[in-house]
Amino acid sequence: MLEIRLEKASIKYLNQIENYRKEMLKSNSSFDGCSNLDKYDNINEWIAYCYKMENIETKQLGLVNADQLLLLNSDEEVIGMVNVRRKLNESLMLIGGNIGYSICPKYRNKGYGKRMLFLVLEYCKSIGITKVRLSCYADNIASKKIILANNGKYDSAIKIGDKEIERYWITMEEKVKVIIDCDTGSDDAIALMMAILSEKIDLIGICTVAGNKALNFTTENTLAVVEALNSDVKVYAGCKESMVTKLLPSRRGKYTGFTGVKDEDNTEPKITYHHDHLPLPTPTIKAEKQNAVCWLVETLLKAKEKITMVITGPMTNLAMALRIEPKIADNIKEIVFMGGGFKVFNATRCAEFNIWADPEAAQIVLTSGIKCTMVPLDATHKANFDYDDCKRLKAMNNMVTDAVAKMIEQRIEAYDAYQPQAVLGSAPIHDALALGYILEPKVLENINLMRVDVDFSGGMADGQTICDTRTYPDDKRNCYVALDANNDLFHQLVFSLLERVK
Ligand code: BDR
Ligand code: CA
Repeated sequence: MLEIRLEKASIKYLNQIENYRKEMLKSNSSFDGCSNLDKYDNINEWIAYCYKMENIETKQLGLVNADQLLLLNSDEEVIGMVNVRRKLNESLMLIGGNIGYSICPKYRNKGYGKRMLFLVLEYCKSIGITKVRLSCYADNIASKKIILANNGKYDSAIKIGDKEIERYWITMEEKVKVIIDCDTGSDDAIALMMAILSEKIDLIGICTVAGNKALNFTTENTLAVVEALNSDVKVYAGCKESMVTKLLPSRRGKYTGFTGVKDEDNTEPKITYHHDHLPLPTPTIKAEKQNAVCWLVETLLKAKEKITMVITGPMTNLAMALRIEPKIADNIKEIVFMGGGFKVFNATRCAEFNIWADPEAAQIVLTSGIKCTMVPLDATHKANFDYDDCKRLKAMNNMVTDAVAKMIEQRIEAYDAYQPQAVLGSAPIHDALALGYILEPKVLENINLMRVDVDFSGGMADGQTICDTRTYPDDKRNCYVALDANNDLFHQLVFSLLERVK
C-alpha cells in the first residue's frame, strides 16, 4: 500500500504547489488539482477562490462549499490535489477536475490515482457524504478503470473545448459496524464467511464462546474461517462456561441438549451437526490475548458509533460484559441473535440450544433495554439448504466453498437422523440466517414485537423462550421475533456472497 494521506491544503505546502504550478505552465499540460492557481499570487487567495468557485457546474448544481485536499507522502511531499465541492446538507460531493489529472505530473501512472480516490471516498464518508460525482476524460482509460473499480455508474458526458469529459456517480453505502459472538460450529462458520465477504459490514471483531463445542474448538474453528478467507479481523476467546447453570449439577437432569448426542463409547458420533474441527486447514493465526468479555467492555465503551451485535451462540459473553459495565448498552445499536423457539425446539421439548446452554445470560440480554431481534428455529427451519445447493457450491471449485458444501452435507445427514425436516435431505443453517438479516432484512418475515423472557428455574422448561402473545402482556415488549423466512432471498444472498471467494 502506498504510504500517503490526505490533508486540507494550507500555506505550509505553498512552495511545493508553486513548483507544480511552474512545472505545469512550462509543460503546457494540465493539473486539475490546481486549476486556476496561475491566476493567484499566493495559495491563500487561491484557496479562497476555491471556496467561492463559480464555474458552470457550481451554478448548475448550487454547490456552496469546497475543500481543497492535498495528497501527501510520508516525506510531506505533495503528490496530488483535489477539489471537493459539496452541496451542504446533502449527501452529495463532487470531486472537481479530472481524477487522473489531480495527481501532480511527475507522480502520474504510479498507482496514486487509485489510492487517492480511496482516501477521498473515506474522507467523504467521514463527513457524512455518501454520494460522490466525479469525472474523467473520455479517453483516459486508466482513470476510468479506477472509477469503475469503485462501482462508479456512468451519468453523462459533456464537452469542454474539444475534450469530452465523462461523469460518474459513486454511491457509498454506510457499512454496519458489527461484532459477532459465536460458538463455531458448522452454521456459525457460514455466518462468519458471509460477514467477512460482505462489503456492507465493518466487522470490528469476533468473540468466541463455549457452546456447540468446548471453547478451544469454537475458537480454533473461528480462526480457521478467518484465515481461510484471508481476513485480518481479530478473534477474542470468551467464556468457557455458562454463567451459572453448572453450579447445580442436578439442574439439567436427563436433559443434556441435542449436541450431547454421543456414540456409546462416548467418542464423537459419526453423524453430528458439528465436528470438533471444521473441514478447513488448521489455522496458524492465534486469538488475541485479551478475553472477549473485557474486550467487549472496552470496545463498546469507547465506540464512537453504535455497534450491532450478532450472537450465534450462548449469550454468556455479552451478559457478563453487561454485568461488569451496564453503560455499554448505550453503544449497542441492536442485538440480532439466533436462538429461541416459538413453536419449534431442539435442545429439549421446549428449549432451543443457544438459550438452553445459558438461560440466565439470555434473560440478562433480553432485559437489558437494548433493541433485540430474535431469529428462532421457527424462522431458520424455513430456509433450509439441500444436496442440490451442495452440488452448486462444489461446482464453484475452491477450498472454502468445498468446505461449506461438506458442512451442509454433514448437517443434512444429522437432521435426517435426529430432526427430520418437512423436506427430507435438507437442513437449516440457523446462524447464517441471523447474519443474513443484517445484510438483507427481508430474509426474515413475519416479525412480531413481543415480550420475551427466558425460563431459568431449572425445571422441565429450563431455557425456554416464553413469548407473550397476549394483547396486554405483563411486561413491556422487548424483542422482535421472526417467525418466517424468505427462502429464495436467503439462498440468493448466501450464493452471491460465497461466489466472491477466490
Ligand atoms: C443453534 O445451536 C447451535 O448448534 C447452532 O450453531 C445454532 O447456533 C441452533 O439451535
Ligand atoms: Ca451457533
